[in-house]
Amino acid sequence: MPRHFLQDDDLSAAEQLEVLELADAMKKDRYGYRPFEGPKTVAVLFDKPSARTRVSFHVGIGELGGQPLVIDNVSVLMGRGEPTEDIARVLDRQVAAIVWRTYAQANLEAMAAASNVPVINALTDAYHPCQILADLQTVRERFGRTEGLTLAYFGDGANNMAASYLLGCALAGMEVRICSPEGYQPPGVVAYTDPAEAARGAHVIATDTWVSMGQDGKEERVKTLMPYQVNASLLQHAAPEAIVLHCLPAYRGLEISADVLEGPQSVVWDQAENRLHAQKALLHWLVNH
Ligand code: CP
Ligand code: NVA
Repeated sequence: MPRHFLQDDDLSAAEQLEVLELADAMKKDRYGYRPFEGPKTVAVLFDKPSARTRVSFHVGIGELGGQPLVIDNVSVLMGRGEPTEDIARVLDRQVAAIVWRTYAQANLEAMAAASNVPVINALTDAYHPCQILADLQTVRERFGRTEGLTLAYFGDGANNMAASYLLGCALAGMEVRICSPEGYQPPGVVAYTDPAEAARGAHVIATDTWVSMGQDGKEERVKTLMPYQVNASLLQHAAPEAIVLHCLPAYRGLEISADVLEGPQSVVWDQAENRLHAQKALLHWLVNH
């Protein structure tokens, strides 16, 4: 049975650490790992827009010695009413892994259930686990560890990023605080409602767009979430050495102020680059496991 990565805890804590250590090694020796020489092909499918995920998978698969098959409009592949399971059984005879950005987590689960090669979540409405691997790599670069650190996330606590922070950072031994107003809190989790309290002493301050792909009601969201903006006055409550994460795309003046995004505590460009290294490590680990 192949190993899949559909949500953050599809890796155990020890396995997550193995992938993060491999990601560091691959970053140091960027062209030194070519496990997909052949070349092996990896299918990368998009049902939603993407800049970072598209570029980092395409570039990363090439750097591993493989060949990316990027399909931007999945209806080209699946628009004739064929079951996802049938597509999985066509792909898995020809590709080494399937990476998919789609809406429902159930789409991905259907693909994985029928696939003999690893299936990787490149973002669904429910989770964004590849992003969290890159975020953890970034945290490790700045602090030398993840264990015992606190991450505070502000804004839409009911979205895919918040769900993945809760799972992925907990596996990495971090305390995760989600700070959101009522109606935007993750199910089954006690959320903070006071931003200053949530930020107090935190090592990592994180946020994400208030309007995820496929969502509407922007005006209402902006009005309700404005007190949860990551800005200079919020940062004053965090640890002095705190770093700021944003998975991007960022909307300056909404979930994050421009000065904080561009300021000295922001590590968002390292974070975006680390998508490349973390996903190369994940692909190598899953395909050769
Ligand atoms: N952070 C992230 O996944 O970016 P894209 O949506 O541009 O891929
Ligand atoms: N929560 C955002 C993340 C984008 C990378 C979205 O789903 O649109």
